[in-house]
Amino acid sequence: MKDTLTIVDNATGKSIELPIRHGTLGPPAVDIGRLYHDLGYVTYDPGFIATASCRSAITYIDGDIGVLLYRGYPIEQLAEKSNFLEVAHLLLYGDLATQTQLDEFTGVIRRHTMLKESLKSFYSGFYHDAHPMAIMVGVVGSLSAFYHDSTDIHNPQHRDIAAHRLIAKMPTIAAASYKHSIGEPFIYPNNNLSYCGNLLHMMFSVPCEEYHVDPLAEKALDLIFTLHADHEQNASTSTVRLAGSSSANPFACVSSGITALWGPAHGGANEAVLRMLEEIGDVKNISKYLARAKDKKDTFRLMGFGHRVYKNHDPRARIIRQMCHEVLQKLGNTNDPLFELALRLEEAALKDDYFIARKLYPNVDFYSGIIYKALGIPTNMFTVMFAVARTVGWVAQWMEMIAEPDQRIGRPRQVYDGIATRDYVSIEKRT
Ligand code: SDX
Repeated sequence: MKDTLTIVDNATGKSIELPIRHGTLGPPAVDIGRLYHDLGYVTYDPGFIATASCRSAITYIDGDIGVLLYRGYPIEQLAEKSNFLEVAHLLLYGDLATQTQLDEFTGVIRRHTMLKESLKSFYSGFYHDAHPMAIMVGVVGSLSAFYHDSTDIHNPQHRDIAAHRLIAKMPTIAAASYKHSIGEPFIYPNNNLSYCGNLLHMMFSVPCEEYHVDPLAEKALDLIFTLHADHEQNASTSTVRLAGSSSANPFACVSSGITALWGPAHGGANEAVLRMLEEIGDVKNISKYLARAKDKKDTFRLMGFGHRVYKNHDPRARIIRQMCHEVLQKLGNTNDPLFELALRLEEAALKDDYFIARKLYPNVDFYSGIIYKALGIPTNMFTVMFAVARTVGWVAQWMEMIAEPDQRIGRPRQVYDGIATRDYVSIEKRT
């Protein structure tokens, strides 16, 4: 049986055979590359509901059964047995590192945690009440002004160093964004600490006192970062790929990813979930807010619920919900009212026909803020945490794209429904 799809234009009777492309897992794809040339049609798929933008070997999601694989490894196994830097190496290079490779990779990341000293002055241009994500967009983008020694993106070594610098510097930039917002001095990285331990140190230590990283917070953050590292062609990753497809500077491309992630429909949802829970306030208000979420005339949506791909439980949300129990118990606030409210809200929504019919389940953002808050991370830093973790996925996907032999600039088409051609009218004749 030919592996093609026949398209017949009923208006003209013309038909073409389009090749079917199969991946290792997931739905087959119709290669429409010749559709316009042979039949004169473009396709129309706003939001890319059924459009594959690329081939990738990094992450796979089966949204119908709630599966997430990083390079073939189930997220549940990596969450239980791995750690963020080992997962970063896996996503970047395709295999679990040997001890020697992991030691080397960890060493390289540690050597790039510092920022150029002049970058500190960038922060003083922001008011203290600037949202840390606004600062991240600006400061990460400005890194593109500093590293002229590694700007040949077609040189694999240059790509590697850019990826290492981005992964290494994001925690330092993030922590400085927080320190700026509270008017405290920036803290330099301490390379004796782990990746997440260093981030906590740079956020919460002060020059005048001893600071000891809480191992529970360090472990919880490392696990949350592992769960957030990559997620196929989501909005921010697709933004990084599209920006990178023009051969733009990788630091500037990651800045565009941070911009896309900030939206409340995407990574900004974790901050929006906590503000929503605080607004709902009490279990007795759940039904009122569920009704608002279902009311098409109301812009309110249940933040942290629903997903373009998952039409079953987001496996990351399940792991984080379990973590909430453990972290809150170990931190001593077993009956955190916001966590209790989140659990009851999930329970009520999953019994509601509106959510059941639309297969709306809690996503990665529904519970993560509960843990961030328990670790002392302020709400406006939640999406910054997401950006630090997702930088690994962004640079891995960018490296994969640039290395593609037939890589070309992304340039979508459109269906034009504006005014057809008309002649200019001089101003005195306009009414
Ligand atoms: C992330 O893509 C990724 O992989 C993203 C991510 C990653 O790791 O990179 O997983 C991270 O961004 C998770 C999503 C975080 N966003 C939120 O939690 C915001 C709330 N969720 C929604 O805005 C929405 O569910 C989206 C944006 C996540 C998905 O939007 P879609 O796929 O375009 O779905 P849709 O808007 O077409 O919704 C389908 C139906 C609609 O109702 P009908 O028109 O069919 O009657 O479901 C309804 C929607 O109104 N709906 C919701 C809802 N989400 C969808 N109704 C109420 N509350 C919600 N949260």
